[in-house]
Amino acid sequence: QDEQRSGGGGSSLVVVANRLPFDLEQLPDGSTRARPAPGGLVTALAPILSRRRGAWIGWPGQPDVELEPTQNDGIDLHPVTLSADEVADYYEGFSNDSLWPLYHDAVAESQFRREWWDAYQKVNRRFAERAAEVAAPGATVWVHDYQLQLVPAMLRAMREDVRIGFFLHIPFPPVELFSRLPWRSQIITGMLGADLVGFHLPGGARNFVRLATRLTGATSSGSVLHHQGRTIKAGAFPISIDSAGQSALAATPEVHEQARQLRSDLGNPDKIILGVDRLDYTKGIDVRLQAFGELLAEGDPSVENAVMVQIATPSRERLESYIRMREDIERRVGAINGDFGRIGFPAVHYMHQSLPREDLAAFYVAADVMTVTPLRDGMNLVAKEYVACRVDGGGVLLLSEFTGAARELRTSLLVNPYDTDGVKEGLRRALSMSNVEARRRMRTMRRQVLTHDVDRWAAAFLSALEGTRDLVAEAAAR
Ligand code: ADP
Ligand code: F6P
Repeated sequence: QDEQRSGGGGSSLVVVANRLPFDLEQLPDGSTRARPAPGGLVTALAPILSRRRGAWIGWPGQPDVELEPTQNDGIDLHPVTLSADEVADYYEGFSNDSLWPLYHDAVAESQFRREWWDAYQKVNRRFAERAAEVAAPGATVWVHDYQLQLVPAMLRAMREDVRIGFFLHIPFPPVELFSRLPWRSQIITGMLGADLVGFHLPGGARNFVRLATRLTGATSSGSVLHHQGRTIKAGAFPISIDSAGQSALAATPEVHEQARQLRSDLGNPDKIILGVDRLDYTKGIDVRLQAFGELLAEGDPSVENAVMVQIATPSRERLESYIRMREDIERRVGAINGDFGRIGFPAVHYMHQSLPREDLAAFYVAADVMTVTPLRDGMNLVAKEYVACRVDGGGVLLLSEFTGAARELRTSLLVNPYDTDGVKEGLRRALSMSNVEARRRMRTMRRQVLTHDVDRWAAAFLSALEGTRDLVAEAAAR
């Protein structure tokens, strides 16, 4: 599929996302060091783009860094510079303090500031301009996520020849919540610049169609919108992971040995309970700590029999809401260990670190129970990674109903993260589940994850995007 780099005149597949797949750092000798960037978007898209050999426009993860285009892992990287003020206003402010909480069921309060909106528009224009430069004639430009919702319409105004897809990696909120946004019409108009607008779930697509007709005068027939003489399709495309790659990694003798070593380092407990997340208040890390702490207090399981490991990637560390949440999580971990830990054997092992993929795979292989308890999550790739890593067919997944993944992983143990007793009951059931039942449930989940991988997701989106050409022809013929 080495079709995408066109000879000299730009790229025929261009991904536009807030972050590049690598955080790039300039070293004193002038060379650049690349480290994988955090988050599910990068996990999903990096293998796709590397296989299809496309271009990726994004921010290298540090303020005020000006870098020339470079290549890594078969991807043409086009770094976009953000000043420190723009990082504060566009990224931390509008993207992560206005939109992020609003789109996640308003689980934290959104701040709306006019200067953040100004920065959001300015930075979106910069990304659109760069896409207009990088895209070959007639190229496919695939814009990603809530940080860049204005890019489709901006790019459309600059380049009529390109096909534009937009995919939202987080939940798209109901009309009532979205309507709080002071710039709601502008955001929807921005997204309507795309030919295809994709969401994880059908509900997100329905919310978008409703909002578009209500706020912009677009008309709709089912999931097809008509706006200013153009046709736009909305649809659901649940994202996934490189399932075969993840599975193969977990099957290596090195990972197997590392998993064995981990269990021994943890004191060979009967049960290892694992959590792996970006340290984000939407992930419900507090929910699982509360449940585990209460179960220990009740003596079932006992601290000799079960340990919890929580690995949390540092994320958005300058935002007040994240600072407060981190303090809360660390206080809870300290309290549980104070109450139940023994010398050399804490009840909860907590790491505020980003780990290499191989190490993470060893944790997944070692974990008897995987806890994924977000209050709201667009998909949650960690849940799918756990399933893909269970090449032995064992392991129990405790999964929040309010994740996109819950729609696909129906044989997980589903819990309502707002119901502490329900989560406790789920955790207790997970810990005492028979091997026969666990394997039966895991078999169904593995079939799902291995047959619905990220290549299939990308192919479905890109072929639907290609299909929008027929919609335009049909509309013209009418
Ligand atoms: P989000 O996109 O909100 O961060 P996802 O669960 O969809 O959530 O994706 C998270 C990705 O980040 C997964 O690929 C997961 O493996 C990775 N990840 C999460 N925590 C860590 C960690 N501590 N170290 C390394 N990678 C991590
Ligand atoms: O998947 C949601 C998402 O916000 C991505 O857009 C983002 O790349 C990732 O999580 C990590 O967040 P951040 O880029 O803010 O570190």
